[in-house]
Amino acid sequence: MSFYLPDKVNCNGEIFNVFITKEQIDARVSLLGKKLDKDFEGKKPIFIGILNGAFIFLADLMRHVTIECEVDFMKLSSYGDEKVSSGQVTELKEIDAKVKGRHVILVEDIVDTGLSMKYIVDKMKHYNPASVSVITLLHKKDATKHNVQIDYVGFEIPTKFVLGYGLDYAQEGRNLAQIYALKEG
Ligand code: IMP
Repeated sequence: MSFYLPDKVNCNGEIFNVFITKEQIDARVSLLGKKLDKDFEGKKPIFIGILNGAFIFLADLMRHVTIECEVDFMKLSSYGDEKVSSGQVTELKEIDAKVKGRHVILVEDIVDTGLSMKYIVDKMKHYNPASVSVITLLHKKDATKHNVQIDYVGFEIPTKFVLGYGLDYAQEGRNLAQIYALKEG
């Protein structure tokens, strides 16, 4: 069976059901792209995707952002192979771009406790950019305990473990076309 757009997913022995459809994601990403176009017109921002999870969201977003911009990546790990955050951020790849005096837009797949995003925003501010903005496809608002400003949100979601569209469970499920949530009970 195709592991791209199924109704139900078995990933690492756990069952996940459709939570946010491909159509809903497409519509929202297109809208976010238009908003960014308007807000950053003439500012030539640098989008920094947080690997691994943000790679699909950032790629789709770039199909809707029509202003001049740059793209770079950094890589962090806070989840390991578990379904809960390890509480520690490990930096696995630094950015290459020179961000001093530039408008930086950090692109995340999901903000959960906010630990990773707080770490990145604090770090970015040391490079003296003109501005730092944050966009995340998903935000588990009730789970966020670190104080971090999020400027653009795709979907606010309850505290559920989700999978697909770049998000993994122990490295699997990233290529699912839509977002699935762990079946409860
Ligand atoms: P935070 O530091 O607790 O905000 O966690 C952020 C990172 O944890 C994200 O970039 C994801 O890699 C991972 N993460 C958080 N929630 C989920 C989830 O529901 N599914 C898959 N990965 C998640």
